[in-house]
Amino acid sequence: MFAGDSPFNAGPAVPSMSVEGVTYEQVSAESTQETYYLRWPQIPGASALSKAVEKMANTHLETYRAENVPGEDSTAELHVNGEVIAAFGQIAGVRLTAAVPQGAKGAINHATLYGDAKGSWSVTSPELIEKSKQAEFVKLVTEGAKKNVPQGAFTGLRGKPEEALSDLTFTPEGNVRVVIDQGLLSASTEGTPWTEIPAAQATAFLSERGKAVVEAVRSKAPYGAQAPKQPEQPAPAPAGKQPAVDCKKAKCIALTYDDGPGAHTEAIANELSKAGAKGTFFMLGQSARAHPDVVRRVAAAGHEIEGHTWDHRDLARLPKAKITWEIDSAAKLLRELSGQPVKLLRPPYGSMNNLVKAAGYPIIMWDVDTMDWKNRNPATTTQKALATAKPGSIILMHDIHQSSAKATPGIVAKLKAQGYSLVTVSELLGEMTPGKVYTRG
Ligand code: NI
Repeated sequence: MFAGDSPFNAGPAVPSMSVEGVTYEQVSAESTQETYYLRWPQIPGASALSKAVEKMANTHLETYRAENVPGEDSTAELHVNGEVIAAFGQIAGVRLTAAVPQGAKGAINHATLYGDAKGSWSVTSPELIEKSKQAEFVKLVTEGAKKNVPQGAFTGLRGKPEEALSDLTFTPEGNVRVVIDQGLLSASTEGTPWTEIPAAQATAFLSERGKAVVEAVRSKAPYGAQAPKQPEQPAPAPAGKQPAVDCKKAKCIALTYDDGPGAHTEAIANELSKAGAKGTFFMLGQSARAHPDVVRRVAAAGHEIEGHTWDHRDLARLPKAKITWEIDSAAKLLRELSGQPVKLLRPPYGSMNNLVKAAGYPIIMWDVDTMDWKNRNPATTTQKALATAKPGSIILMHDIHQSSAKATPGIVAKLKAQGYSLVTVSELLGEMTPGKVYTRG
């Protein structure tokens, strides 16, 4: 497990891997009316696997959208996170953890999928076990997982056998780890049942695909697919020494970008720098971990780096310890990478309560919402950015969308033509108070 992974995920820790050339797709809302965040990896070569993972993530989103009533405060959060958990030889694997709306507390589902490095096939975990031997294997799993079910709550399997096999991962020795979704072995939502079947015992149950996966994991061979050459992004030019702007006198505005760093962050930082403008980037810890050099370069170019939590959970739904971890772990990593203080918080979805306010950070909201995550259209994003902008405004955008990157040069040019200085949030607001909520200067 990487330092920084949530210690609150249910079940045993499944190590996530850093693999050359992996990119992450993200879909997120930024509104208390719709609270969803999905992120999943695309692994070079393994196109069949990447497609299957994307399809599973999209199915979660479609279900959420069908059940969420727009215009009402959403009563539940969808949070889907995919991690690469295997990439050896000709095999790659992705584990998708989904916190889905279900009852008062929601439920956590795990699914692990595998595929080959040439992109010709993908399988879900149950397919790693020979079909004719599934029932017998599930019996073994159920018996082993019983010890992790709260005493007296064990009911036996409450679903179809393959449902107990949705999350199969392998230790370097070839043991099979099975994590079973909450509610399948008991009515309780306490704890997550899991078990480990030793390699010697598990081998007899594996399908051909299952054998191929175990063999690759045990080989520890470097992942086979050649990473496609990423086009080199020129490093953002330094914004340059500019005379300090006194925002009490000058017309100042702050452009802010959430949910990065990602594929478009540097292009946006470049455009800002070229125009002598500065931006503020509210970044996610897990994305900073995936793109550390982007954080370093954007910070070195003079843009402000601040925190948007580790992995975009709705903080108002979390207990205090998790809120603290979400905010502090991201800020710590962003400080290390950027060399900046990282002292401000933008809570995901703009969602907060008194515990969030007590976390010790000034809270930065916005007064101009481009809704770029929803419209994904440069012209609409631009129109919304400019329509209600006024001196002191904080404009909300997202650097994970190409449409927002495309909108940026035009927005900057038009604001400058109106006589605005484009400054960071810290320049706009000056001295700030922890726990206080700021929507504009
Ligand atoms: Ni966000």
